[in-house]
Amino acid sequence: MNNFLRRLMFRLWYLFAPPWDTGISPPELLDFIEKYPPGNAIDIGCGTGTNVITLAQAGWQVTGVDFVPRAIRIASRKARNAGLAAALHVRDVTKLTGISGPFDLALDMGCFHSLGNKKKGYLSELERVLAPGGYWLMYGYFKSDSAANDYGLAEADLELIPASMTLVWRQEGFDVPADLTDERPDLAGPRVLLLEYVE
Ligand SMILES: C[S@@+](CC[C@H](N)C(=O)[O-])C[C@H]1O[C@@H](n2cnc3c(N)ncnc32)[C@H](O)[C@@H]1O
Repeated sequence: MNNFLRRLMFRLWYLFAPPWDTGISPPELLDFIEKYPPGNAIDIGCGTGTNVITLAQAGWQVTGVDFVPRAIRIASRKARNAGLAAALHVRDVTKLTGISGPFDLALDMGCFHSLGNKKKGYLSELERVLAPGGYWLMYGYFKSDSAANDYGLAEADLELIPASMTLVWRQEGFDVPADLTDERPDLAGPRVLLLEYVE
């Protein structure tokens, strides 16, 4: 899928209620917040800002970027209503113009895996904005073997990750909707991957 179609697809999703927009931050982010002192964070592909708000509430200075203006507008409204300051920008994550960090945490819940052949551009921007010793916490789906398009991660994509970044931990599992686990085991979702890297 080319970038134009990808952008259009996400714009359309945000006219409705995208399935990922649960308003709940994942336990791995909450664990991270418990473990590390607040600093500067960027949420890459922040959507409507759920994790921006979680981080800001925990005392982080947060920047959120997404290429869907409506998502950024909703995120800005949510932050304002919560009385929190956050820098929210409409940007393509492969070109973070005007954003320099340095960030102690770059969070990515579900963006990197969707970038097709643009992953290299993303990773060079990530390397540029991440502070020395900064963390990249990334959650993504693996591509299914039968996938005809370029959506999702392949093991080869992980080889694009710069050598300057060291893997701290990696967790794999399956994304199964909690309310369906018992009734429909056949619906076991795609393989998911959680990575934490330190620069
Ligand atoms: C699966 S959603 C996850 C949103 C958010 N992280 C969350 O957990 O609710 C992926 C997000 O990445 C954004 N995105 C995808 N490709 C992007 C790109 N090239 N530049 C900026 N944002 C992008 C989409 O608009 C979408 O909001």
